[in-house]
Amino acid sequence: MNGELNYITFALGKGRLANKTLDLLEEIGITCEEMKDKDTRKLIFVNEELKLKFFLAKGPDVPTYVEYGAADIGVVGKDTILEENRKCYEVLDLGFGKCRMCVCGPRESGELLKHHEMIRVATKYPRIAKDYFYNRKHQTVDIIKLNGSIELAPIVGLSEVIVDIVETGSTLKENGLMVLEEVCPLSARMIVNQVSMKMEAERIGDLIRRIKERL
Ligand code: PRP
Repeated sequence: MNGELNYITFALGKGRLANKTLDLLEEIGITCEEMKDKDTRKLIFVNEELKLKFFLAKGPDVPTYVEYGAADIGVVGKDTILEENRKCYEVLDLGFGKCRMCVCGPRESGELLKHHEMIRVATKYPRIAKDYFYNRKHQTVDIIKLNGSIELAPIVGLSEVIVDIVETGSTLKENGLMVLEEVCPLSARMIVNQVSMKMEAERIGDLIRRIKERL
């Protein structure tokens, strides 16, 4: 059965998003038993019956796999989509992984923002930060790229503010920081390779419809 079909390959961002995506796919009858084995060191998983493949990748690499067609479909956060700026179609808001991209800092930094002062902005998302300050706020800032624990920057004096993800707000609160401005809302999105969308229009379209019905 399905001998004539090509595989459709999914790239999932490692971690919580991947688990939620697998739960969602399971709800529409798509399972991958192999992937549930927590101890496996395998990188790619196959559902022969449905002609599907799945692999886990670092979040920021997901749009890269999808742009080049190494994966037909990807699931990744909107933050990563905006930051990586790859050529692919964003076809669905999956509704989970909801959080916000915000400008945060100590209360005093709010004044610096208001008066458009030259400030330093630490972030894991330099493209998003640049777009926000330069194109939307028309404010010149110094953007400092970091790779994690961004909340440290204003505490140790590396920057006046940060641009980072806020989910519950508890990281900010526990470190004496607050949301000063909101950049945009975020959530998990499904992205599709531009060629695959045409070549596999029927199967991918059907998948999108079935997921939509579930959401
Ligand atoms: C993210 C984000 C914040 C935190 C926000 O960090 O960068 O630090 O979660 O969540 P909260 O509002 O619920 O406290 P993550 O844990 O992904 O690690 P990172 O420091 O490596 O970015």
